[in-house]
Amino acid sequence: MKKTVTLTFSDGSPSIELPIEQGTYGKPVIDIRALGAHGYFTHDPGFTATSSCTSAITYIDGDEGLLYYRGYPIEELAYQSDYMEVCYLLLHGELPTTEQKTAFVQSIRHHTLLHDQMENVFRGFRRSAHPMAVMIGVTGAMSAFYHSGLDNFNPAHRIVVAHRLIAKVPTVAAWAYKFNEGQPFVYPQNRLSHAENFMHMMFSSPCEDYQPNPVLARALDRIFILHADHEQNASTSTVRLAGSSGANPYACIASGMASLWGPLHGGANEAVLRMLEEIDDVSKIPEYISRAKDKSDSFRLMGFGHRIYKNMDPRAAIIRQTCYEVLDELDLRDDPQFKIALELERIALEDEYFIARKLYPNVDFYSGIIFRAMGIPTSMFTALFAMARTAGWVAQWHEMLSDPAHKIGRPRQLYIGSARREFVPLDQRKA
Ligand code: ACO
Repeated sequence: MKKTVTLTFSDGSPSIELPIEQGTYGKPVIDIRALGAHGYFTHDPGFTATSSCTSAITYIDGDEGLLYYRGYPIEELAYQSDYMEVCYLLLHGELPTTEQKTAFVQSIRHHTLLHDQMENVFRGFRRSAHPMAVMIGVTGAMSAFYHSGLDNFNPAHRIVVAHRLIAKVPTVAAWAYKFNEGQPFVYPQNRLSHAENFMHMMFSSPCEDYQPNPVLARALDRIFILHADHEQNASTSTVRLAGSSGANPYACIASGMASLWGPLHGGANEAVLRMLEEIDDVSKIPEYISRAKDKSDSFRLMGFGHRIYKNMDPRAAIIRQTCYEVLDELDLRDDPQFKIALELERIALEDEYFIARKLYPNVDFYSGIIFRAMGIPTSMFTALFAMARTAGWVAQWHEMLSDPAHKIGRPRQLYIGSARREFVPLDQRKA
C-alpha cells in the first residue's frame, strides 16, 4: 500500500492526505501538488527541502559521500571512462557501444567550429572583460545564429542542440582567453581529443605549435568528468527554469553560466588559490586555522565544506590523486602551494572544529592547483567548470522537455507587502 501523510490543522479545517513518493534512492518525498486545490502553498526559500523535478540522471548521497551518473559511481567513470562517454551517458542514459561512441565523437568534432561571424561578437567586448562575461554573452548570442526552424519539442532537434553546445563551448572558452590575451583565435583541430583540442586552442599560436601532454590531457578529461553534472544545483535549476518556457536553449545555457559565475557556486576554486597565495608559508597555517574557527572573523577555509556533502566529497579524493599525477609529470611535487594545501588538509581533518561540523575538503580544493600547474590563469577556472557542466545542463534540459507532463516552472510566494490601499495623488502625498 502506498504510504501517505495526513496534514491536520489546528483550526479544525478538514485534514488533507498527501502521497509519499520513494525514488530509487534518497529520502522519501511528500507530493504536495494537491495542496493548491485546498487553498495552501508551501514555503521553502532556497529549496532546502523541496524536490523541483523528477530526474533519472544524477544521484548524490551527501551523508555517505556518493555521486552516481545514471547509476554509475563517479570513481568508476573517472578511472575507466572518458568525458565523451560520460556526455553520451548523461544525455542518452546508457554508456555507448563502440559504434555509438564513434558516431558521437564524430558529431561533436563536426560541431567544434564557431560561425565565422561570431568572431565579431567577441570583438565587441572590452579586451579586459572577464572570460565568464564573454562566455555568457557569446553563448547567448548563439541563439541569434541557431533559432529559426528550431523546435524544442522535437527530440532530434534537441540532440543537435546538445551536440553543438558540448562541442562549441570549449571553443568559446578558449577564445574568451585568447581575446583577453590579445592573441589571435586558434581554430579547433578535429584530430585531437576533446581535452587536447581545448589545450591546443588555449596554448598554441600561429607562430608556435603546442603539443598537448597526454598526462595533462587525461587529468583535464577527468576534471571534466567530475564536473559534468551535480543534479539540481543553482545553475542547473536556472537552465531548467529558463528552458521550461520553451525558450531558446543557447540562451538558457547562457543563463546557467550566469548562475555558475557566482562566488557561492562555481567561483570557489578561484578563492582557494587566492587563499593559498595569501597563506604563503606552511608556518602560517595555524594562524589561518584559528581565524577560520573565530566567529568574529569572516574568514573561512576555502575549499572546505559543502551544502550537500557532510562526508568527503567523492570528487575531492579523485582530484587529489589527479593533482599528484599532474605535479609529478611537471616535476612540481615541491610546489609550495601544494605543500600548503596538503598540510592545511592534514591539520583541518584532525581538528575538532572541522570534525564536529563535518567540514571536509571539496572538489574545488585541488582543482585550482591543477589548473595553475597547467598554466591556466585563475580567471579561466569558472570557464572550465562551465565547459564541463554544459553536458549536465543540456542533459537536464533534454530530460525536462522529454517529459510529457512537462509544465512551465512557476514558483509561488508568501506576499508580505502592504495590504490594499487607496492611490494618493502626487500633490497630497506627505514625506
Ligand atoms: N571554514 C570554517 N568554518 C566553516 C566553513 C569553512 N570553510 N564552512 C562551514 N563552516 C562552519 C560555519 O561557520 C558553521 O559553524 P557554526 O555551526 O559554528 O555556526 C558550520 O560550519 C556550518 O556552516 P554553514 O555555512 O551553515 O554550512 P552550509 O552547508 O550552509 O555551507 C558552504 C556550505 C557554503 C560550502 C560552506 O562550507 C563554505 O562557505 N565553504 C567555503 C567555500 C567553498 O569551498 N565553497 C565551495 C563549495 S563546493 C562547490 O561549489 C563545487
